[in-house]
This record gives sequence, structure tokens and C-alpha cells, in this order.
Amino acid sequence: MSKSLKGRDYLKLLDFTSEDILHLLDLARKLKAMKRAGQPHRFCEGKNIVLLFEKTSTRTRCSFEVAGHDLGMGVTFLDPQSSQVSKKESIADTARVLSGFFDGIEYRGFGQEIVEELAEYASCPVWNGLTDEWHPTQMIADMLTMQEIFGEDLRGRTLVFMGDARNNVARSLMVVCSKLGVNYVACGPKENQPDPDLVKLCTDIAAEHGSTVTVTDDVESGCRYADAIYTDVWVSMGEPDEVWGQRIASLSPYQVNRHVMELAGPNAVFLHCLPAYHDTKTQIGKKIYDKFGISEMEVTDEVFESAQSHVFQQAENRMHAIKAIMYATLNDEEL
Ligand code: CP
Ligand code: NVA
Repeated sequence: MSKSLKGRDYLKLLDFTSEDILHLLDLARKLKAMKRAGQPHRFCEGKNIVLLFEKTSTRTRCSFEVAGHDLGMGVTFLDPQSSQVSKKESIADTARVLSGFFDGIEYRGFGQEIVEELAEYASCPVWNGLTDEWHPTQMIADMLTMQEIFGEDLRGRTLVFMGDARNNVARSLMVVCSKLGVNYVACGPKENQPDPDLVKLCTDIAAEHGSTVTVTDDVESGCRYADAIYTDVWVSMGEPDEVWGQRIASLSPYQVNRHVMELAGPNAVFLHCLPAYHDTKTQIGKKIYDKFGISEMEVTDEVFESAQSHVFQQAENRMHAIKAIMYATLNDEEL
């Protein structure tokens, strides 16, 4: 049994053991079943949480809000326009002020050092809702989705990340896969491959759990016989618009399309943290089409809409995962 996570910050998965991660997955499964059964679970009644977003969000914000309400908590949302955060009040002062009002603080923003500083000064748990470096709440949802598809024991499965393999989601996947004994393949061009120090660290962690980490620019060998093919946007929030042209040129060979899914095989699944550019029905998707003439980016519409795609199950699981993370860090009773 994993030790209690009560009072812990949730900033990046390197801070957690495999047992902790499995414990969060177990909690997420139980909380999802309770929600499905219509069984009330207001285990955090009387508590209040605050959500700080310096970048936009649909899934993460809604997950924290709905999960907070389901757990019986009051939820306050703050964005940079309507609060003093950063402009008139430092992160250290904000952390100490908010700790007097709230039992937990969620932060989505830029550098990881900001959320780390918030956690250093806050006296309640701080949850990382995405930084430039990490996206740790996404990982519990992703692994929960994998468990629902392949069974609880994911050891020996293979997940391939295609595209910008040094972004926050890809780096987080490399860590979570290594800790759970899932083989991880980062498949992208040299300039979008993960930092060698992190690769070395994850390779060592993976070896302890009987799995491997592979970095390759070869789509054929990278994707063959994979259990899951995962991709994310080619340009992440906070990156300048000027990089689009170069990214489209270098990452187009790593688009997840029918050929990639055929390499993986009929039982492979497609995953994406979302939002995804798979058509021109978004403002940015339309602008990219007008400027570069491509209507699909990291994934084709065909794969996105196929039976192999589990992206909406994955999106729903964000809420169950975040509920588990909040429950575990705010309570010490077993569920
Ligand atoms: N996957 C994810 O974090 O989505 P949002 O940006 O909508 O929160
Ligand atoms: N890599 C993406 C993830 C969005 C959920 C970004 O940071 O924009």
C-alpha cells in the first residue's frame, strides 16, 4: 500500500514513486466508478480551492472545477487579467495570501520554477496544471485510459510519442511510462528530441521497472507494433507564432496518419491530450491552412475520428484523475 500523499504538492512526476502513481490510478478508477453510479462523494466538504491560470484551458480548468464541486469544495478561478498575480504581487506573496483562504492551489503557467516557488511559499498543496516543462495531471488521465483499454498492469506495453518529443506532454509521458514499466519511444526529428539528461534519467528508471526508453527519428521502426501512438500540437502555448513554419517543415513527416496506425497494427490505439489540429474548424487551424496550405497537422482527421482513437475517453479521464490527485493530497483516509 502506498503511503499517504496528504499535504504533498503535485508538481512533476519525478517527485513520486511508482507506488504513488499506481495509488492515484486506483483512486481515479474508484472515483470514476462512484461518479458513474451516481454515488455522492463529497469527501472534501468545507474545503476551498483556487485555480490560477496564466495560459488558456478547457479540460484542466473544467476538471478542477467539476472535480472540486463533486468533492464538495468551493472553487475560485483567477486569471491574470482579473487578479494581482505577477503584475502587482509576487508569486511568494500570492502564495502566502492564498494559503490563508484556501486548502489547495492549482497553477497553470510558464516556467516550472514559478509553480515550484508557489509551492515553496504556500502552506497548502499546490497542483501543477501545466507548465512549459511538465503536465503531470494529464499523465494520470492518460495512464488511466491505457489501463481501461489494456488492463491494469501496463508493464511491457509500448507507447510512442510522435512529433515535438521535447514538449511538456512528451517529457511527462517519458517519466510516467518509465515509472510504470511501459516502453517509451520518442519519435521525432533531431531538433525535437528530448534532453539527453532526462533520457538518461528515465532510461535508468525504466530499467528498474523492466522497460526501455528509445529516441528515434525513424517512423517505421519507431511505430511498428506499438500499443499506443500519442501526439500533441507542434507548437505549444507560450511559443512564438514565428516557429510555425519551421515546425510544419520538420514535424510533417511525424504526422499520425493511416500509415502510422497501420505500422502499429489493428489493436493499437491513438491518444492525444487535446486540443488537436485535425481539420480547419479552429481559428488557428484555418490561419495555418491559409498560410501554409495544410488542413491537418499532428494527426489526420481520419485517425482522429477512427475507432482506434480514444481521445474523448482520455479527456473525460482528466476530471477523474484530477479528483484523485486532489483527494489524495487533501485527505489521509483510504477510499
Ligand atoms: N489537455 C489539456 O490540458 O487541455 P486544456 O489545455 O484544455 O486544459
Ligand atoms: N503541449 C501543449 C499541451 C496542451 C495541453 C501546450 O503546452 O500547449
